[in-house]
Amino acid sequence: MKESILKELIENKNRHISGQELSEKYGVSRTAIWKYIKKLKEEGFVIESVTNKGYVLKNSPDTLYAVEIKERLKTEFIGKEIIYLNSVDSTNNYGKALATQGFHDGTVIVSEEQTEGRGRLGRKWISQKGKGIWMTIMLKPDVEPDKASQVTLIAALSVLKGIKNIKDIDVMIKWPNDLVIKGKKVCGILTELGAEIDRINFLCVGIGINVNGEEEDFNNMGLNTATSLKIMAGESIERKRLIVEVLEAFENLYKLFLKNESIDYMLEEYKKHLVNIGKDVRLISKNTEVKAIAEDINDKGHLMVRLKNGDLMEVSSGEVSVRGIYDYI
Ligand code: BTN
Repeated sequence: MKESILKELIENKNRHISGQELSEKYGVSRTAIWKYIKKLKEEGFVIESVTNKGYVLKNSPDTLYAVEIKERLKTEFIGKEIIYLNSVDSTNNYGKALATQGFHDGTVIVSEEQTEGRGRLGRKWISQKGKGIWMTIMLKPDVEPDKASQVTLIAALSVLKGIKNIKDIDVMIKWPNDLVIKGKKVCGILTELGAEIDRINFLCVGIGINVNGEEEDFNNMGLNTATSLKIMAGESIERKRLIVEVLEAFENLYKLFLKNESIDYMLEEYKKHLVNIGKDVRLISKNTEVKAIAEDINDKGHLMVRLKNGDLMEVSSGEVSVRGIYDYI
């Protein structure tokens, strides 16, 4: 109900909307309306109340209410449905549970905080309340399961584009799915798949962006390998705006991927922003560690590495852990 009231205020920004009108529309008392308005004010919404006229929205805080994101979003299907949560264990967990009930392709789950945010390789992903973007895009791509990992590269480039549309900072991609600024991590992506042998049932593309975390937050958490856009840009970034930019960029790239069943159309741009190329890497799998030099990314989104004996080897993100550049992330 609170979100419905907010939606009315957003849609009627140019006029006062009376408590009476709202109470009739939603079949609740004027006192109940007043209580929701009070709650919104407590959350930082600036709502003017004028006797005999009603309420008008003057300003919004940096919360991620679905209605405010949808109001700005110009996409066909990504984010047409947004599930907004104040707190959740993990938006990817939520997404996986949702997948068992059915969902609209492109549904986005976003939460102000995650209590058990997950990273790759079983790591934790710290997700402070209100300081970042913790979201999952739910997809049903009609492509073979072995192509699913390419969506991670699409997500990485979309976040990079979204950031750059807002602020021209030197953000780079560390293959396959990290974004770094001056060697420190600002974004991680965790793509999870529900599939049969030959068909994808669902894909959860979990995106975590450290947006407005402070230097001391990272120090206190003992995370000297991570940073935030705010620290690097020297000013806060509006999270809603960044979500809109990322989702719009994502939809454009993802639609091309569905059409071509490949990411070759975006490889050139992806590679332009890559930190790995030409760098030494160590390929770590169960019992072995092999040294190589990263040379290229192919159209499957796999890393091409040159081994010591001169052979070229193709490495997919799931197969090995690639270390050597920013070992810690
Ligand atoms: C990594 O770098 O290891 C991946 C981090 C992915 C974090 C995001 S935040 C939203 C989504 N929910 C999660 O629990 N994890 C992903």
